[in-house]
Amino acid sequence: MRVLASAPAKIILFGEHSVVYGKPAIAAAIDLRTYVRAEFNKNGRIRIEAKDIRTPGLTVSFSEDQIYFETDYGKAAEVLSYVREAINLVMEETGKQKGVTVSITSQIPVGAGLGSSAAVAVATIGAVSKLLDLELSNAEIAKLGHKVELLVQGASSGIDPTVSAVGGFLYYQNGSFESLPVVELPIVVGYTGSSGSTKELVTKVRKSFNEMPEIIDPILSSMGKVVEKAREIILAEYNKEIKFELLGRLMNINHGLLDALGVSTKSLSDLVYASREAGALGAKITGAGGGGCMYTLAPGKQSEVATAIKIAGGMPMVTKISREGLRIEDIVQ
Ligand code: MEV
Repeated sequence: MRVLASAPAKIILFGEHSVVYGKPAIAAAIDLRTYVRAEFNKNGRIRIEAKDIRTPGLTVSFSEDQIYFETDYGKAAEVLSYVREAINLVMEETGKQKGVTVSITSQIPVGAGLGSSAAVAVATIGAVSKLLDLELSNAEIAKLGHKVELLVQGASSGIDPTVSAVGGFLYYQNGSFESLPVVELPIVVGYTGSSGSTKELVTKVRKSFNEMPEIIDPILSSMGKVVEKAREIILAEYNKEIKFELLGRLMNINHGLLDALGVSTKSLSDLVYASREAGALGAKITGAGGGGCMYTLAPGKQSEVATAIKIAGGMPMVTKISREGLRIEDIVQ
């Protein structure tokens, strides 16, 4: 038997980092996907093949106490630890230990802040659970995806695997989520081309929080308030212009607060300012920062903003919100 599953990338619109401290956040699944194929093998090992994860190819296989790296490239190896934990968790849930080969292909750049690790974990859990005949809802798969992130990263709010498993537009807080109406926002995502490690950035913010709680706590609380305001705007029947203008201002405030936490970089800020100068109503980091991506809200100015991002050294990406989360693409008996 062979199962092919896919899961989408995400962008966090508002509330990254503060969401780790129990504040709310708003995120959307986007139409870039990771595909995971799972099938039984005869040698009893877990084998992971990652031929196209936007980093050089790598094959890793492991049995109970040994790992066999046929090639080792840092970023790809990091992604594979999510896959490995995802397979282990599903096997624990079923109580079955079987030889399974998992092959990954992905359209999502690794370390770009677009949730590539969560998408690969969710698609792996989806494919392997189906293969092992374990019935899980997408919400249950999101919870297992969160466990994978906690095991690999140490800290995680769970927002990335939840958006990837459930899809659409979500308001998320402390493991619970509410689906928001899907508004097609006129956004442009800008990729710096460099990557940040979510684990390191979350640890960096935690360190500042522990050292200066009286300063960092109000920043995180302001971020939570920005998210509440953005949710009101998204839900309200405002005149479109006013809605976008206010949302844009909230994005700019959220970016400033993220910068204050120390997760921006010069290239991220260059893309943010270039977009604003080209007419975007708002621009901010999306995801953990330290490289990766920013996004802008630019009604009527998307092509001007995309050009400005390119001139400032970034890679503009035109994306759409994906209503669908985890999807079983194909089952061959
Ligand atoms: C990463 O996409 C979002 C962070 O808030 C981490 C998390 O929520 O687990 C930085």
